[in-house]
Amino acid sequence: MNRRNARSPAKRIRYGFLAFCCLVLLVACGNNMRDDSRLKPYEASPVFGDGSSARPLDPNVVARSQSVDVALTSGKREGAIVSSFPITVDGDTLTRGQNLYTIYCVPCHGAAADGKGIVSGYFNPKPANLVTDTMKLQPVGHFFDVITNGKGAMFPYSSRVAPVDRWAVIAYIRALQINKEKPLEVPVDQIQASGGGVK
Ligand code: HEC
Repeated sequence: MNRRNARSPAKRIRYGFLAFCCLVLLVACGNNMRDDSRLKPYEASPVFGDGSSARPLDPNVVARSQSVDVALTSGKREGAIVSSFPITVDGDTLTRGQNLYTIYCVPCHGAAADGKGIVSGYFNPKPANLVTDTMKLQPVGHFFDVITNGKGAMFPYSSRVAPVDRWAVIAYIRALQINKEKPLEVPVDQIQASGGGVK
């Protein structure tokens, strides 16, 4: 029996089927896994307005090696409550502060910060009037402390209002303390200078 005869018809069919399968699998091969739609670092991209695939960092991102102003996140320096704003107060700070104050504080303290918010009647002691002479003389760090840690029945807001936003709320409270009719028209320099109290 020679080798040729060893290939029986059954074997031929089997080899043929195997070759066919290989062919089918090879046809399915492509480069689309290798050349997928990922972007290489710094590659241009039409997806974003600035044409760059590299996205800018979020504001307030801090590198590990960068030191942070402790007053910004704690309202204190060397254990003492600060009496100056650790941020630069500008028009945007005020509008953001107004927005956040309206969301988080108005229900209890009222839009005019006089402590007469819609649910204030349910509290004892009542939500504080934030525009009294005593409150005007409180340093900004005091407000930061109360927003961060709460006071009495008032819940701490540290998990909901970011540190920079707490300062924005405080800037807006200062604006109300200075001019409760037109808080957004108070010059930002005057608010910036009111860290130790409103004279
Ligand atoms: C759920 C109601 C409620 C909300 C919302 C609320 N507060 Fe208060 N707040 C109170 C109550 C009640 C007190 C009085 C606590 C006490 O004297 O025991 C208080 C006290 C304060 C004081 C303390 C005044 C002082 O020196 O005695 C400040 C400052 C203050 N709130 C600011 C804020 C700010 C800013 C917000 C928004 C981020 C806010 N509160 C949201 C209920 C609230």
